[in-house]
Amino acid sequence: MAHVVTEKCNGCKFTDCVEVCPVTCFYEMDNQVVIHPDECIDCTACVDVCPVHAIYAEGDLPSEFSKDTEFNATEANRVKDSGGPQMTARKDPLPGALDRKKALGY
Ligand code: SF4
Ligand code: F3S
Repeated sequence: MAHVVTEKCNGCKFTDCVEVCPVTCFYEMDNQVVIHPDECIDCTACVDVCPVHAIYAEGDLPSEFSKDTEFNATEANRVKDSGGPQMTARKDPLPGALDRKKALGY
């Protein structure tokens, strides 16, 4: 099991999650971040810090986001294999992040 970043991160990238992860298992894509399932230790630290509640334990993932489990695995491996570094520090959110957050109801 691992934790999973859902599509709610897409368009936000607030990156509060990155800052609290003890094993730096977040990988960055253009529009969102993903968690590497083989590296996440299920500490749960990232869950409550995301302003749009984009992260779930795999076992708690709402069915509407079930595709995101495979998406995180595939994309985290792709970014890692292409030399993408693990994220270690918080960055500015994407330009439309606050509007996206509002649209998501947060
Ligand atoms: Fe990192 Fe813990 Fe979140 Fe896994 S659950 S991504 S180890 S902060
Ligand atoms: Fe995305 Fe939330 Fe982290 S918006 S970058 S999962 S804090």
